[in-house]
Amino acid sequence: MIAHSALHRINRAIAHEWHGTRTAPYLLHDGERLPREVPSPRWHSNGALATGGWRRGPRALRPSHRCGPRDESRYCRTVKTWQLGLRRIAKILLYVSAAAFALAILAAAYLFWPRSYARTYVDAPATTDAVAPLASAARFRLGAAVHDTEVDTFAAAAGRDFNSMTPANATKWGNLLVGGKLGKYDFTTADALVELALAKATHLRGHALVWGRYPGAGHPSDLEDVLKAAPDPKQRLEQILREHIDAVLAHFHGRIPQWDVVNEPLHFWKPIWDDNVFYRTLGPEFVATAFRLAHAADPSLELVLNEQLPQYDDEHAEKFFEIVQQLQQSGVPVHGVGLQSHVLMVLPSVASLEAYMHRIAELGLFIEITELDVRLRLFADDPDPYAAQGRYFRDLAAACARQPACRGITLWGISDRFTWIDEEPPFRWMQPNDPLLFDQDNRRKPAYLGIIDALRRAPPTRTGRLP
Ligand code: G3I
Repeated sequence: MIAHSALHRINRAIAHEWHGTRTAPYLLHDGERLPREVPSPRWHSNGALATGGWRRGPRALRPSHRCGPRDESRYCRTVKTWQLGLRRIAKILLYVSAAAFALAILAAAYLFWPRSYARTYVDAPATTDAVAPLASAARFRLGAAVHDTEVDTFAAAAGRDFNSMTPANATKWGNLLVGGKLGKYDFTTADALVELALAKATHLRGHALVWGRYPGAGHPSDLEDVLKAAPDPKQRLEQILREHIDAVLAHFHGRIPQWDVVNEPLHFWKPIWDDNVFYRTLGPEFVATAFRLAHAADPSLELVLNEQLPQYDDEHAEKFFEIVQQLQQSGVPVHGVGLQSHVLMVLPSVASLEAYMHRIAELGLFIEITELDVRLRLFADDPDPYAAQGRYFRDLAAACARQPACRGITLWGISDRFTWIDEEPPFRWMQPNDPLLFDQDNRRKPAYLGIIDALRRAPPTRTGRLP
């Protein structure tokens, strides 16, 4: 109470002082002592209240006086100067945010506005060669990942347009399990696809034994909980991995000669390990463990470490290269590197890919481009985006054909009618993605012709390179 009335009086006194009439002594009106916690105002030696003290002083000491338009007291002048400054800052901030907002709207409109581009290739000659025989002649694997919606399309295209196949989802750990949970396997869907590929005499890639993303697809949906309940989660995970790898490799023995043993060990955007259930439980060692188990289960297999890299000359690519190098130098049975090559936001230069493949080849490992798709909108600035996309496919295929260690390319899909990119935010709103070799009507795009062009020019020394 005392403190409150003292403060009130001080405030009044200060207001009075700032207002021009200096009658300071009534501060200690009635001889009342100021409470300890209230800081004393600063005084000049002549008894006047020190100016400017209000700025530094506690809130309670600031005057509550309102300044009128003609009030020229020192306090009011200071207040007005500050108010003017603040108003200017607020105005600038308003203009800046309005400009940023407008820019964001324009950028969003540019990125998301649906577009369509002229399909000049519709008139491409119907007599064009099929690409698969050319690929086989150049000992080059040209594959397609087959989603369950595309099985019939693949059946028609196998042998003519593709000489290799990867089940896009059917051989993933979680998808092989009944209900996606640890326990019983159901190989029915995967077997049908594998048998189709074998009937069409195409090469097969298995995808993927261990993947930390998509619980229920990439790995069992209950894996995390099972490990939490285990007395020794490390030991339990090693046992689960062994049982899974043994079961799957025994089942496909003699049919699928090459496997992505670990898929995407790195974080999607950053050059760090992906923080998934395998990494959390076993540390980075989980990769070596999986490869050793796969090699022990079937030493005849080619074992691949598969990763998505947005660029080939940045920190992300460097981190992945270090992992590969370390595995290889520690004698872990890694035989090849899968470069997924989903080209989504930026076009990596083909020269950078070529240089990166060269470094991998120097380690003594082979390379597969495992999941190629290239979004059409990345060529939006070209007068003919489909043609520009075709040139990119051509140059990329030529780079792979030139590199002796590059086994070939698998496209992550067949026709633009179905691509995972059309389902994935934000790309689903940034159409057309049209990232594959065939268009919505199953016509061959310049991308297809680009690969033909590259294979026709493949160095003759390629022959005989595939196992
Ligand atoms: O099967 C259901 C279907 O019944 C349902 O109607 C439909 C509704 O969306 O979903 C269907 O399942 C989807 C499945 O693909 C089949 O298309 C899943 O939701 C969806 O999550 C699943 O996505 C797959 C994803 O991996 C996760 O397994 C994509 O098709 C597949 O293209 C994608 O492939 C990955 C590679 O394995 C690794 N590299 C990246 C690549 C793209 O994400």
